[in-house]
Amino acid sequence: MNSAANITDWDDYSLSFQSVMPSQMLALNREVSSYMSGEVADYGCGAGKIIPFLAQQAGVTGYIGIDSAAEMVAKATWMAAKFPQMDSRLICEKIENTTLPPVGSALSINSHYTWPDTKAILQQIYRQLRPGGLFVLATINRNIDMARLLGEAEVEMIAHPHWQQFKDHNMKISQNDGLTLKSLNELISEVQSVGFSVVEAHQKLYLGGLNFLVLEKN
Ligand SMILES: C[S@@+](CC[C@H](N)C(=O)[O-])C[C@H]1O[C@@H](n2cnc3c(N)ncnc32)[C@H](O)[C@@H]1O
Repeated sequence: MNSAANITDWDDYSLSFQSVMPSQMLALNREVSSYMSGEVADYGCGAGKIIPFLAQQAGVTGYIGIDSAAEMVAKATWMAAKFPQMDSRLICEKIENTTLPPVGSALSINSHYTWPDTKAILQQIYRQLRPGGLFVLATINRNIDMARLLGEAEVEMIAHPHWQQFKDHNMKISQNDGLTLKSLNELISEVQSVGFSVVEAHQKLYLGGLNFLVLEKN
């Protein structure tokens, strides 16, 4: 386990993480979902916050969420049960140790920055995707200004019972110098080196602090 994973105690974070959804996160989940189709694999699915959005997405036929934190998977399982119209499966396992049947599309939101070997995991995601399938990779970058982002979210969330916990945990994560934070160009080079083509790349969300890539397996 790398130092980033030690400091980011995902189990402890799971309750506030699931219940707090500031508009920046809402926009991110909506945009990622809009690219998904077929059976969707979610790498580092956390509490399954994207499940309600995928369940509304025409063309999505199923969902597989993978996460190594047991409490996150328990919460994602609860979330999946709320949307029985989508066939869902949750796997409590490291992405590195997971074998999946080929999937139609894939996503990973804010998980890449804690992976011990980002290139090896991206290679694995590439192998598990059907040719022509899309993979949306979203991960915070070096420009992330967490204090400002949380300040903006506070006006929406201040009375939420888990807001303070959510805020404290996010500040702790952003102060962790063990995170892998890449520029957009560095991330593009990495995904191209494993074979992905870049369909779209931007930093419009999280006040410029998030790399958002839409990738295709050729
Ligand atoms: C910030 S949370 C994001 C959760 C979710 N993608 C979302 O945006 O709501 C990061 C998640 O990645 C998971 N994670 C990090 N490294 C992982 C790995 N190597 N294998 C499986 N899960 C991992 C953590 O357990 C955590 O739940």
